[in-house]
Amino acid sequence: MTSETITAAVSGTWTLGDLVVNRIGFGTMRLPQQGEAFDVDAVPGDRDRAIRVLRRARELGVNHLDTAAFYFSRLRSANELINSALAPYPDDLVITTKVGPGRDPSGQWQTHATPGQLRGQVEENLRQLGREHLDVVNLRIVGTDSIAERFGALAELREAGLIRHLGVSNVGPAQLAEARAIAPVVCVQNKYGLGSPDQDAFLRTCGEQGIAFVPFYSIAGAGCDAGASPDADGYALLTVARAHGVSTAQVRLAWTLHRGPHVLAIPGTGNPDHLAANVSAGALRLSDDELAVLEALHQGGEAG
Ligand SMILES: NC(=O)c1ccc[n+]([C@@H]2O[C@H](COP(=O)([O-])OP(=O)(O)OC[C@H]3O[C@@H](n4cnc5c(N)ncnc54)[C@H](OP(=O)(O)O)[C@@H]3O)[C@@H](O)[C@H]2O)c1
Repeated sequence: MTSETITAAVSGTWTLGDLVVNRIGFGTMRLPQQGEAFDVDAVPGDRDRAIRVLRRARELGVNHLDTAAFYFSRLRSANELINSALAPYPDDLVITTKVGPGRDPSGQWQTHATPGQLRGQVEENLRQLGREHLDVVNLRIVGTDSIAERFGALAELREAGLIRHLGVSNVGPAQLAEARAIAPVVCVQNKYGLGSPDQDAFLRTCGEQGIAFVPFYSIAGAGCDAGASPDADGYALLTVARAHGVSTAQVRLAWTLHRGPHVLAIPGTGNPDHLAANVSAGALRLSDDELAVLEALHQGGEAG
């Protein structure tokens, strides 16, 4: 089987509320610009290429997209690209967006939204995506203070029919518990990947509670907004990748999927070849010996 014939269905499915998604999805943060995300001086991404990548993702069976209104460069917006590439939207497509942070029109970060401003951010996503409701909305927070007021504001928008399901992002267990006391939570989106064992217990807790754990930067790792750096790949990770004839990025993705059936992947790329490779990582089965090697790297806090 070549990577071109493998679809996202090979990764299995998970249900977000009542929405079934393949576990390999796609993150759109890399589409609006070349180079580092959120760099106000970044060269805008190639529009035709971004649209081709989104349509190719659909052809490869991807039915879970992650986006945000604040994913934009000078000339490109992730939500506009999704709308142009995929509307009218197929019934099985689940678009997850996030609110909380905001950027002004020049791209500079503003302070996080107050409960009263969250409705405007939800409506901004509705306008850009051209939808009447949002499938899943994550409250993306910074800090450890109470999220009750802000999550409560989103729960009201859910009751009003603007949002179908809610999630939280960049949270800890106490904030998740706080949110769950207000309304159902279908997903937690946190930074996680090989070499960040601090999230392991929380990942397991989410699984026990039937909540999807959706890692970001699972390929980029310490590169964060700047993206992946092959220099971060050590000998052990390279050895596992070579044994399967795949890239270390694919091993990183496959490893996250091995962490539990509730773990979803949303790798981000503007490169069609990387897209196909990431989808095919859902077919990669790591042996017990390989998982033991990777576990040692992970617990050692090494990027691989
Ligand atoms: N909730 C939050 O706070 C938050 C924060 C950050 C991101 N996110 C979401 O999570 C998604 C994933 O994060 P991400 O895009 O930053 O990081 P990622 O998926 O971990 O990695 C993306 C980086 O890896 C490269 N890459 C992707 N596939 C590759 C492959 N097969 N081989 C080699 N390199 C590959 C990309 O470059 P190329 O473009 O060259 O492939 C890019 O540099 C984002 O798109 C966004 O939707 C959420």
